Amino acid sequence: MKTLESTAPFHTEIGGVLVSARGLQKSFHGRTIMRNVDFDMHAGDITVIIGKSGSGKSTMLRALAGLTEPDEGTIDFDGVRVFEDQQRTEAWADKSFHVGMVFQTYTLWPHMNVLDNLTLAPRKRLGMSGSEARDRAESALAEVGMKQHILSRCTQLSGGERQRVAIARALMMKPRLLLCDEITSALDPPVAAEVLEVLRRLKAEEGIAIALVTHDMAFASKAADRLVFFQDGEIAVNTTPELAFTRSDNEELNKFIDAVRF
Ligand SMILES: Nc1ncnc2c1ncn2[C@@H]1O[C@H](COP(=O)(O)OP(=O)(O)O)[C@@H](O)[C@H]1O
Ligand SMILES: [Mg+2]
Repeated sequence: MKTLESTAPFHTEIGGVLVSARGLQKSFHGRTIMRNVDFDMHAGDITVIIGKSGSGKSTMLRALAGLTEPDEGTIDFDGVRVFEDQQRTEAWADKSFHVGMVFQTYTLWPHMNVLDNLTLAPRKRLGMSGSEARDRAESALAEVGMKQHILSRCTQLSGGERQRVAIARALMMKPRLLLCDEITSALDPPVAAEVLEVLRRLKAEEGIAIALVTHDMAFASKAADRLVFFQDGEIAVNTTPELAFTRSDNEELNKFIDAVRF
């Protein structure tokens, strides 16, 4: 059984290139839904990904998370090749522990308490001991302000609390990259803002790189280091939020921002 000790150490320093994707392409049933995707993320950066529904945002995040296999292209993570020739390389097995993902809808087990939700996979997949799993769960929950709920059942939690627990669950493996796919889309704006604030703190205090698909332009404009605009499966714009919000020469981006702004 795999143990935590056998997982590879992490090398990339804050500010260094953590993820480097080149030429990613993906088709489903003959339709290309991701093409020519070249994408770098730096350790400790928040990258906000925007774009119309169906433009390929989730597909890219899923490719980075190892949940979908592109038909073409390469992905390097923490300085090593983790994807090429349509498949994960051996190095991915260790690097995958450094990548966490959170989804829009609650993916917690409703009948279990928070602690069991967090510790089930690490204990089963890694054979982590009960006491280590509990220690990690406590610190992960503390990071998202949910430690007092460690024994609550998930059905007793509000939507915002559940998403914070979902983030804590992703933190159990001490990820260096956190992929968040519309994690606040089902929440009221003030609750969404609280959840997004957690991400800002994780970036600031832990140096975690975050890629976040969101329609929240207020967050994008104040918290993003990079802003990526997807259009028909391609990265049409990759820039700073300042430039994206003030003087992009991509008309589709301007229209998109106007349509969803604040
Ligand atoms: N497993 C799949 N099988 C077939 N089509 C898919 C699959 N996953 C995504 N698609 C299609 O790919 C396109 C891009 O999807 P997605 O990446 O989810 O877009 P977004 O997240 O920007 O809304 C959509 O048209 C979607 O229907
Ligand atoms: Mg999506």
